[in-house]
Formats: sequence, C-alpha cells, structure tokens
Amino acid sequence: MTINIDRIRGQFPSLSETDDGKPRLYFDNPAGTQVPQMVVDRMADCLLHSNANIGGYFTTSIRAGEVADGARAAMVDFLNAPSPDEIIFGQNMTSITFHVSRSIGKLLRPGDEIILSRMDHDANVEPWKLMARDFNLEVRWLEFDTETFEFDLSELDKLLNDKTRLVCVGGASNLTGTINDVKTICRKARDAGAWSFVDAVQSAPHILSDVQDFGCDFFVCSAYKFFGPHQGILWGRRNVLEKLEPYKVRPAPAELPWCFETGTQSHEGMAGTAAAVDYFAWVGETISGARGNRREQLKAGLELLFDYEKQLADQLIAGLVSISGVRVLGIADPDASDRRVPTVSFVHEQYAPSDIARALAERNIFAWSGHNYALELAQVLNIKDSGGAVRIGPVHYNTPHEIDTVVAALRDILGS
Ligand SMILES: Cc1ncc(COP(=O)(O)O)c(C=O)c1O
Repeated sequence: MTINIDRIRGQFPSLSETDDGKPRLYFDNPAGTQVPQMVVDRMADCLLHSNANIGGYFTTSIRAGEVADGARAAMVDFLNAPSPDEIIFGQNMTSITFHVSRSIGKLLRPGDEIILSRMDHDANVEPWKLMARDFNLEVRWLEFDTETFEFDLSELDKLLNDKTRLVCVGGASNLTGTINDVKTICRKARDAGAWSFVDAVQSAPHILSDVQDFGCDFFVCSAYKFFGPHQGILWGRRNVLEKLEPYKVRPAPAELPWCFETGTQSHEGMAGTAAAVDYFAWVGETISGARGNRREQLKAGLELLFDYEKQLADQLIAGLVSISGVRVLGIADPDASDRRVPTVSFVHEQYAPSDIARALAERNIFAWSGHNYALELAQVLNIKDSGGAVRIGPVHYNTPHEIDTVVAALRDILGS
C-alpha cells in the first residue's frame, strides 16, 4: 500500500513554514517531532475548557479528570497495556526514570547486579549508575558490536546470573538507529529472575509497542518524539509497581497510578498525548483503511508508516555512502532495514559534525550534531572527542524529494 504523503503532511501545519522564503526541512525528528493540528486542537481545548486540578465537584475539574482518563486509555491502546492503572505520566522520560529508580533501588541489596547497555541514551544509564552508587550495586555492561552496531545476545547470557536484578535497554538507538530485540532481552532477564526496563523513546515513534508481547517490567517513552507534546510516560507491570515504595507527598493518593505521579500533572500534555495516539489511529483508519478498534488501527497505521520510513532510510543511506569521505554509523544494508529506525548518523573524514550541521542549517535543513547524549556509544565508537556525528532523522512526514535535497546539500558542503 502506498502512503498518501500530501494528506499526511496536510495534518502538520509547521511543515509548510518558511524562513526568508526557504522551506524548512525537518530532519531533527529524533530530538523531537512536529505535531499534527489535532494535537494542537486537543491541547487548546483542554486549556480552554478543562483547566483545573482534578478531584473537584465543578465542571472544569471533572473535565480535567476525563482528559487524564482519556490519556491513560489512549496509552493503554498504544502500548497494549493490561490496565490504565499501570500508566504513569511525568514530565519526561529522564525525570520519570530518575524518580522510579529511587524506588527500585530501595528494594536492592549491596552486591546485587544491574546490566546497562553501551548503546543507550544517558537517560537510561546515569539514573541507574547513580542508583548503583547509592545502594552499593554492581554495574555490568552489555557491549554492542562496533561492526554490526547490534548486540550479540550471547554476551547478555554471560552477564546474567543469580545476582542480576535489573536489565536496562533501549528499544532503538537514538544515534545508530539500531532496533534491539527487546523481546529476547526481556525473556532472558526474566529467566534469570531480573526485571527489565525498556527505554522506548526512539522506537515508539516508528514501531508498534506491545508491553505484554515484549514481556518487560517497565517501559518508558516520550510523546514529543511521537508527534505529541512534551510528556513522559511510564508503564510498569502492576505486581512490580506494587512492590515499590512511591516517593510522594503525604496527601497524594496512595493508589496506582497516581502515587507515582508527583505534583500536578500537565493535563494539556496528557490531552496532546492522547491526540498523538489518535493521530496514528487516524492514519490506520483513513490512510490504511483499517477497520476495528483503536489498537488495530494503530497497528495498521504504524506498519504503513514504518514501511514508508524504511524506503526513506534506504534512500538516505544510499545517498550518504555515495559521498566520498562519509562513514555511516549504523546498519547500512537495505536488506536489514527492518532492524533499524530511519535515524541515520554519519561522520566525515575531514569535516567536523558541527560544521556540517551548521552548513545544513544555513540551507534551512534542520539536523543535529554531537553525541546526542548517547555518551557510552560515542565513547565506544571513538567519536566522543571529535564532535560526535551528524544525525539525519527522517520520519513519515518527510519526502523522497527532501532526502534528495539533503543528500545534494551534503554533496555540496562536503565537496563531493
Ligand atoms: C533514547 C532516548 N532515551 C531517552 C531520552 C530522554 O527523553 P526525555 O527528553 O523525555 O527525557 C531521549 C531523548 O532524546 C532518547 O533519545
């Protein structure tokens, strides 16, 4: 099935913005995506008609409660979660992870082990390293193969033992784009008696999340990476969450999920998050023609979009490798495009990543350079002290023409 790209792009008002007559090319999507009009509308509606704290007897308060319930229901469908009580909202993935790490750490004993990955964003590393420091735990590292940019999961087998309590891993790398075999990793963790914590910030915008199928214990993502507002979401398995002591103020509810939601939440963020989920369902229903419930529409929508994104990634990688001096840091084989999200990073033998990103910005092409907080990965790939990499991150609203434009711009900048 082909994607109706004009119809898709028509949902996103910011895609038609220009600066001094120059169109904008948004390739900064792994850092944050643009939002469809339906997200803006839902947030505005919340602020205009449901603007109150939850728990009162009056109209706006009741409506605010409905917004929160609607957002939890949307995330249940988005993640295939068993219950809305397991959906916890927070400011962003980093804050939520720091927060819950404190409760998890309290259950662990000195000498217990946790496994962290060298591929992950620091938000799924440093909270755990600090937890290990504070509770005298041992950190063990899951390395990735620097040739394939993937984990060799037999290495995980060597790290797991009867002292392992937690395995923290990403759904997809924010720098190389590698999609990890989360299901196998979680199964191995479970078989060893450990919990698994999945950072799905970079996979959730591209592939269908299914916490029950993945078999994880915790799952975190951020709506601003999947066409919604700045909002973090944690899913936790109920019987695991119930073991944790929530750090909360005394008057706050003691029950799930509210006990883990510190302070007053962003109801407009929740409204926008629900709308972002509905946007994927809209794609499934309207563009893919999927019938059925929202989950089925989400599946159809995400599959359609990812198929299209794979074509964009293939085109981008083919263009990049044809430029002399460029080295793509990630899976480059088109036959393996199922194993990566369309986030493509590269280095050049001569030009610094920041100079390349600046030259792209002068052409109104938005892209990031640096290590993008994937500190361990940058260290392992030996790019940390040389400015990291240039990251070009298309998503489904980008076009083949835009890919041609960025490749031509790079050819020009890099003199190839
Ligand atoms: C893989 C990954 N994990 C975590 C984060 C942090 O997310 P947040 O900004 O919601 O804290 C990011 C942000 O770029 C990310 O790419």
